[in-house]
Amino acid sequence: MAKKSMNELINQINSALDGVIETSPLNTNLEESMQYSLNAGGKRIRPLLVFLTLDVLNQDYKKGKKTALALEMIHTYSLIHDDLPAMDNDDYRRGKLTNHKVYGEWKAILAGDALLTKAFEIIADDELLESDVKVKILSRLAHNSGHLGMVGGQTLDMQSEDKPVDLDTLEQIHKAKTGALLQFAVLSAADIAKVDKSTSQALEDFSNHMGLMFQIKDDLLDVYGDESKLGKKVGSDIENHKSTYVSLLGKDGAEDKLNFHKDAAIKSIEQLSSHYDIKPLLDIVELFYTRDH
Ligand code: IPE
Ligand code: IPE
Ligand code: MG
Ligand code: MG
Ligand code: MG
Repeated sequence: MAKKSMNELINQINSALDGVIETSPLNTNLEESMQYSLNAGGKRIRPLLVFLTLDVLNQDYKKGKKTALALEMIHTYSLIHDDLPAMDNDDYRRGKLTNHKVYGEWKAILAGDALLTKAFEIIADDELLESDVKVKILSRLAHNSGHLGMVGGQTLDMQSEDKPVDLDTLEQIHKAKTGALLQFAVLSAADIAKVDKSTSQALEDFSNHMGLMFQIKDDLLDVYGDESKLGKKVGSDIENHKSTYVSLLGKDGAEDKLNFHKDAAIKSIEQLSSHYDIKPLLDIVELFYTRDH
């Protein structure tokens, strides 16, 4: 079977997301608010990473479709909450008004809550995966999304506003708030493929460098990016007195770190090249490196 291109995979995830939230008999418009943010058109790099890792591991990408969908829901919830006035207080996301600007704060909070819980339902109901694989993935998703992962990172990020932060702490923030979900993308595919320990370790190292790369680039784009391409405001980090790779190390220093993690990500994945065709993951490294939105 011919391999699917990145664009085809993104189209698959977009059509799966469209209408994924069923109407509730409760007659609220909560579903509209959930679907609003889901359909707002993100880059879908997390689902893509699930699919491309499966591809490298010689698995049908369809086996990871529900997992990828669930991950994008959790990511979307994290963005809805991240944009709230109590957190980063942003008005634009994915080129549209943020969820709370359209639906109000309490509904944005609840839309996030509902997307989070829906994600677990979707994986639990997945008919393509065996029960033991699903349990492993559900546990991994809970761990990486929660207080030991993304939510923990968001907490440390908020606690670190308005004060000097050292590079180790900043790396910890980035690993948790952003890296944890990217690590889930890669390792859930490894769970589905039931890889051995050394393959899993190489993929874990790869995903950790990808997580740091992704957030360092996000920090750079927050200062040097183009608002119309990004679909969100630039300068949000400075306004919120956040420490970032750019505020700590300057543009050149942040770019050096980006290069370091790019090389390290490639090195990690190259360990698998005697058994697997790693090209799809090398392509996504390049995408993370060159992205302008
Ligand atoms: C933004 O993520 C938040 C971070 C973790 C840096 P993305 O840049 O993937 O946002 P979307 O999904 O494309 O909107
Ligand atoms: C957010 O990081 C990471 C999340 C877990 C949502 P940022 O606050 O830097 O993300 P953006 O720049 O608003 O997308
Ligand atoms: Mg934030
Ligand atoms: Mg933010
Ligand atoms: Mg940012």
